Amino acid sequence: MEEEHTQPSDAGGALATTARGSLTVTDNRTGETYEVEVVDGTVRAMDFRQMKVSEDDFGLLTYDPAFTNTASCRSAITYIDGEAGVLEHRGYPIEQLCDQSTYLEVAYLLVHGELPNQDALDYWTYAITHHTYVHENIKNSMEGFRYDAHPMAMLLSTVGALSSFYPGAKNLDDETERYMAVVRLIAKMPTLAAFAYRHNLGLPYVYPDNDLSYPGNFLSMFYKMTEVSYEPDPRLERALDVLWILHADHEQNCSTAAVRAVGSSQVDPYSAVAAGVAALYGPLHGGANEAVLGMLDRIQTVDNIPDFLQGVKDRKERLMGFGHRVYKNYDPRARIIKKHVDEVLDATGVQNPKLEIAQELEKRALDDEYFTERKLYPNVDFYSGLIYEALNIPADMFTVMFAIPRTAGWLAQWLEMLGDPETKIARPRQIYTGDRELDYVPMDQR
Ligand code: CMC
Repeated sequence: MEEEHTQPSDAGGALATTARGSLTVTDNRTGETYEVEVVDGTVRAMDFRQMKVSEDDFGLLTYDPAFTNTASCRSAITYIDGEAGVLEHRGYPIEQLCDQSTYLEVAYLLVHGELPNQDALDYWTYAITHHTYVHENIKNSMEGFRYDAHPMAMLLSTVGALSSFYPGAKNLDDETERYMAVVRLIAKMPTLAAFAYRHNLGLPYVYPDNDLSYPGNFLSMFYKMTEVSYEPDPRLERALDVLWILHADHEQNCSTAAVRAVGSSQVDPYSAVAAGVAALYGPLHGGANEAVLGMLDRIQTVDNIPDFLQGVKDRKERLMGFGHRVYKNYDPRARIIKKHVDEVLDATGVQNPKLEIAQELEKRALDDEYFTERKLYPNVDFYSGLIYEALNIPADMFTVMFAIPRTAGWLAQWLEMLGDPETKIARPRQIYTGDRELDYVPMDQR
């Protein structure tokens, strides 16, 4: 919960300050002085509009192209303190959620704002389990993709297509429609992801199995072949569940900001979530764990690590899976994932030599001033790719695996945005840098 005394920081989190007060701003262009209110360690950009050099001046704008120092909303969903390496959902530390909860319960927590009692959790689980099927026409439309279509491209367009199957979802004021969209999207995302995977392999799509848990059903839709019923390995089920808890929300990241911005136009939630999938598809957002595996492949053996690290220091390489815009400390998610790598390797029986390289690379980087001085620590992607690889999930699918759990975060943020009386359509300003008032030049004179 956002406290009165906290403020958003460029570390993406909240710094404890006694934040109420004001600024006295003198506009040296005019000599005028203004009082600007500070609430939660934040000034309102609109308060600067009154600062003008003349009556017809538009007023002062603030410029922040990547929103690096701009809070775009108030939110009570996820708290991050990047300096301390803290991540909490609705106030609950990520470590406790990963130890004691399940992804579906965390999804409930994100969406509803509190932990469910047993009845509420049962109802929620039942609802999601019973909306995992997609319309046959969705399945048929996925069959129309090329055999080698990128699974994220398939997911992106199919989530958008869901909008056409649920036209009632555009009634944003209808609480039941909003709730059903949340349930349907969380329920169907694993189905679409698994269909995309099977499509790439040329295998028949496997329908959801309502007798299985949320991650267990996913494993079944992924791996089931001729078995009458698929029995997921509980260790893999749990590892996947923990990975999904870890990826469920991360406050105002690129894809969440996209969902909120697109959703602010009052489009239906399927279209808004499709915008989130599109943002996640970009390599700067969802693709780093794939790059980590490529890096470990290139390093080849533990003996090559010193040369590789020298290459990083000489700026010929980047240590993928290290560093974070928000965390200037060990990413708490990386610490948790690391614990599960061995478990998954044990369960799958995969001996992955990359694990030894990764562990040694981490050790040496954390012993090296170059990295510690810059506060470069492993992030969530350093080990997640190794888990996916052990599960035999191809690199193309990694971002899809991220989209499944992030759906709960996107929807919690979308609901919060809809309920926020301060929400208006997102519409930034610009600093115009082009020509003005040119005379049109006829074609024969250009
Ligand atoms: N390897 C080597 N040097 C690095 C790295 C790295 N991975 N990351 C940052 N640095 C250096 C950077 O060169 C700079 O050094 P100097 O001040 O001497 O020029 C200093 O550290 C500060 O870096 P920055 O580029 O200002 O940091 P940023 O906040 O803009 O970048 C980042 C954050 C995640 C893009 C970057 O750390 C990076 O490229 N990491 C590797 C890619 C990666 O693992 N991405 C996944 C992030 S986690 C995903 C998620 O949370 O969803």
